[in-house]
Amino acid sequence: MKKKVQFTETVLRDANQSLMATRLPYSDYADILSTMDKAGYYSVECWGGATFDSCLRYLGEDPWERLRNIRKNMPNTRLQMLLRGQNLLGYKHYHDDVVEKFVELSIKNGIDVIRIFDALNDFRNITTALEATKKYAKKNTVASGCISYTQSPVHTVSKYVEMCKELKNMGFDTICLKDMAGTMSPNEAEGLIKGIKDAIGNMPIILHTHCTTGMAYMTLMKAIDSGVDVIDTATSCFSNGTSQAATETMFYALQQYGIETGLNEDVINKVNDYFKPIKQKYIDSGLINPKSMATDSQALVYKVPGGMLSNMIANLKDLNAMDKFDAALAEIPSVRADLGYPPLVTPLSQMVGNQAVTNVLMGERYKQISKEIKNYFKGEYGIAPAPVSKELETKILGEGGKPTDCRIEDSKRTGEEFKAAKEALGELCRSEEDVMSYICFPDQAEKFFKDRLAKEENMATYTITEA
Ligand code: CO
Repeated sequence: MKKKVQFTETVLRDANQSLMATRLPYSDYADILSTMDKAGYYSVECWGGATFDSCLRYLGEDPWERLRNIRKNMPNTRLQMLLRGQNLLGYKHYHDDVVEKFVELSIKNGIDVIRIFDALNDFRNITTALEATKKYAKKNTVASGCISYTQSPVHTVSKYVEMCKELKNMGFDTICLKDMAGTMSPNEAEGLIKGIKDAIGNMPIILHTHCTTGMAYMTLMKAIDSGVDVIDTATSCFSNGTSQAATETMFYALQQYGIETGLNEDVINKVNDYFKPIKQKYIDSGLINPKSMATDSQALVYKVPGGMLSNMIANLKDLNAMDKFDAALAEIPSVRADLGYPPLVTPLSQMVGNQAVTNVLMGERYKQISKEIKNYFKGEYGIAPAPVSKELETKILGEGGKPTDCRIEDSKRTGEEFKAAKEALGELCRSEEDVMSYICFPDQAEKFFKDRLAKEENMATYTITEA
């Protein structure tokens, strides 16, 4: 066993995202942040992923203000975000200058660790974000290169080792293996971590996995045995199911091996005590679905990540079609093969999931093809891990049609996206951060800015009436 293993606490981001569709408002956890600051985590994952979208779309929060507030209350802890490379936190490719600005502002507003991934592991799509991280780096800034882990005929250990060598050569500080579906077995973890450690030496390796299939604890222990440096866990009341393994439980187990974690036992228990009633509140309100808290070994067949599963349940419920749940799940592997085995991570997970649901609901495969899937075949997302279905490609691109290179479009450093967004917002825009929110989620951001203005006007009226 290794002498030292550190923890990244995910309750504010991934656990929140996996168990309750990212609907945890800042006000629910504001009071525990100063305590969490004393826990001794390697980092706290608190931003990025779906939190940004959720702030604007559902919670009426300014995501940037949320980050600044977390920063203020946790001055001693590395704050971590998840960034989808050239997609930032949205679902399309942005121009390089927009990506650079987003990274600059993330660091400026308080982010230390930027975990950067591309859904297809097309590393051309994470280069701009990496360069920007290096350019605007502060003392504690860490650029973490992240690999979307998946199993397929084309995803072998040697392929992953090659990817890690590439990330190291690109200049990343750490490497994260992101097993979003929780399908990495202990045996696979051992092979991978040993292989990677042999190939890249001292560079810190992080394992991110989910409990979805019930393997996470075994996989983490085996990974630790094989030399992993940092693990992602969630405070125990927000752990398990589609979330991460429990922080306190892993701490307890490692302590008996004499492995140093840097964690303060009292503090991590206090954190859990704090979140218990909050979890109960969302179980009572129905936001936390019991399905997401259970172990589901089906994921070993369907390779479906937690967030994707809960999204699909929500969509099917909206359409009154929960009876199609099993059929839609079964359709996912076929859609995935047609797309050249992309890892099922955002936005690919949504794209594959939605197309699978459409195929099943229409009673005919690809009778309707989503705009995103069409764009995928047009090459807008990057290069697929394996060849795509020729039949579907022809259906979308026409006879002899060829995909274009997304990176040529991204690298047009024209400032167009930024300028257009600023102009569209007009007086609603108060900062560069506002412009970024608008670029990522135009409709949601505009509504948020209008609501913000209306709220202030109401407050002004109220103050005058009071006087
Ligand atoms: Co995750």
